[in-house]
Amino acid sequence: MSHLSGSSDPGISVVILAAGQGTRMKSDLAKVLHPVGGKPMVVRAIETAQRVSDRLPALVIGHDGDAVRDTIGERAQFVIQAEQRGTGHAVMQAADALRDQKGMVIVFYADMPLLRDETLHRLIRMQVQNDGPLSLLTVTAADPRGFGRIVRDVDGHVTAIVEEADATPEQRLIRELNPGVYAFRADWLWENLSKLTPKGRKNEFYLTDMVQIAVEQGGIVAGLESDDPDEMIGVNTRVHLADAEAALRRRINEYWMLEGVTILDPATTYIQENVTIGQDTVVYPNTHLQGHTQIGAHCVIGPNSVIVDSEIGAHCTVEASVVEGAIMRDHAEIGPFSHLRKGAYLDEGVHMGNFGEVKNSRLGPGTRMGHFSYIGDAAIGEDVNIGAGTITVNYDGVNKHKTVVGDHAFIGSDTMLIAPVTVEDNGHTAAGSVVTRNVPAGYIAVGVPARMREFNGIKPLDEKEIQKGTLVRIVLSAC
Ligand code: UD1
Ligand code: CA
Repeated sequence: MSHLSGSSDPGISVVILAAGQGTRMKSDLAKVLHPVGGKPMVVRAIETAQRVSDRLPALVIGHDGDAVRDTIGERAQFVIQAEQRGTGHAVMQAADALRDQKGMVIVFYADMPLLRDETLHRLIRMQVQNDGPLSLLTVTAADPRGFGRIVRDVDGHVTAIVEEADATPEQRLIRELNPGVYAFRADWLWENLSKLTPKGRKNEFYLTDMVQIAVEQGGIVAGLESDDPDEMIGVNTRVHLADAEAALRRRINEYWMLEGVTILDPATTYIQENVTIGQDTVVYPNTHLQGHTQIGAHCVIGPNSVIVDSEIGAHCTVEASVVEGAIMRDHAEIGPFSHLRKGAYLDEGVHMGNFGEVKNSRLGPGTRMGHFSYIGDAAIGEDVNIGAGTITVNYDGVNKHKTVVGDHAFIGSDTMLIAPVTVEDNGHTAAGSVVTRNVPAGYIAVGVPARMREFNGIKPLDEKEIQKGTLVRIVLSAC
C-alpha cells in the first residue's frame, strides 16, 4: 500500500505552468491574461488550485511574466523559468520551492480554462488509491489536435505518452489524448524529475517521460478518463480562445437549463459563472448576464439585454436594456432601450418604458416612467407618474444635487426638475415646467422661470412676464 492511502487529506501542492510565450496569440497581452468568461485564464487556474489545495500554488512564469505577477499578486508563489525548455524543465524549476511539502503534487497548465474542480478531485482520489507514483487525466476526442497519445497495456495501465511528432503510424491513430494534468506522489516526483533528459527536435525535457520512468521502476500509472472533452481545450491561438469561450458558455447555459431556466438560443446567451437565475425565467437571445448578477424566478430577460452586477426580483422584465449595479424588485419592468446605472433601485411593480435612464435613484412601488426620462440622484415615491421627457437637472457643472418627489405626485411631460428641489406628496408639475422651487402638496408648478433680467443697460420686460414660472394653486381630488 502507498503511504498515502488511509489519509483523507494527502496534502496537495499545485504547480501551474504558464511560462510558454504564447506567440501564436499575436498579442501585446500575455496569453494567460486573455479572459475566458470575463476572467483571465491564469486567474481561473489559480482559483482552481485554491479550491483543491490549501497550499499556495506555484506558478511557473517566464522572465517576461511581470504582468501575470501583477495580476496574481499574493495568490501564488512565482517560479521563474528563464528559458522555455519544456514541460519537464518547467516543473523542475518548482522543485526548490516545493521539495519539502509532503503528499501530492498536481500539475496543470494555466491555459486550460475548462478544467473542472470535480475532475481534479477525482484524479486526486485516484492517486490516493494508486500504489504507483502518478495518475494522469486523459481525454478521448475525434480530433487529436497534436496532443500526446496515451499508450496503455492490456491491463489498462498507462505505459507511455507519445508526442505526435515521435509517434508511430499506429500510435497516431490513438484517440485517447494527454491534456497535461497530473497527480504525482511528491517525494517520488522530486527524486526522479532529474532523470529526465532533453529530447526531440527542440531538445526539451518532457514531463510526459515521467510515465516511462515510473513504468521502468515497476510503478503503476493510472489514467482517469474525463467524460468532458472540453476539459482538454488548451488555448494557443485566438481560435482556441473562442473555442474555450463557447465551451464555457455551453457548460454554464446547460447548467441553468437543467435548473429550470428557458434559454431560447444558448449560442447567443452569455452568462458568467457567478450569475444565478430562478426557475421558469426565460432568457431571450443576445443577452449578457455578468458579474454578481442575481435574477429571480419567472422573469423575462432579453432579447438584447446586458445585466451586470445587479439584483433582479421575481416576475421582472428586462427587454433590450442595459442594467448595471442596479436593483429591481418583483414585477418591475424596463425596456425596450433603457438604462439602469449604478445605484438605481426600482421598487416593486415599477414600470420603466423606453429611452429612460436612472442613476443613483430610488423609484417607489408602482411608479411609472414610460418614455424618454433621466432620473439621477433622486428619491421618487410610490405611485408617481413621471411624464415623458422628465429630467432631473442634477448637475450644476460643479456639484450633484438631489431631487425628491413624494408619493402619488404627478410630473407632467417635459418637466425639468432643477435640483436641489422637492415635489411633495401629491404635488404636480405641468408639462414643460422648469421647476426651480419646492412644490408643496396641492400646488402645480407651471411655466418656465427663464426671465428677462437687466443686461448691458437694457431694461427687463414688464412685471407679469417676470412672474411666469411661479406656483399656481389647484384643486386636488381627495386622495
Ligand atoms: C504538452 C504535452 C502533450 C500534451 C499537451 C497538451 C509534453 C512533453 N507534452 O505538449 O503530451 O498533449 O501538452 O497541451 O509535456 N510550458 C512552460 N514551459 C515550457 C514549456 C511549456 O511553462 O518550457 C507550459 C506552457 O505555457 C503551456 C504548457 O506548459 O501552458 C504546455 O506547453 P506546450 O508547449 O503547449 O505543450 P507541449 O509540450 O507541446
Ligand atoms: Ca499547448
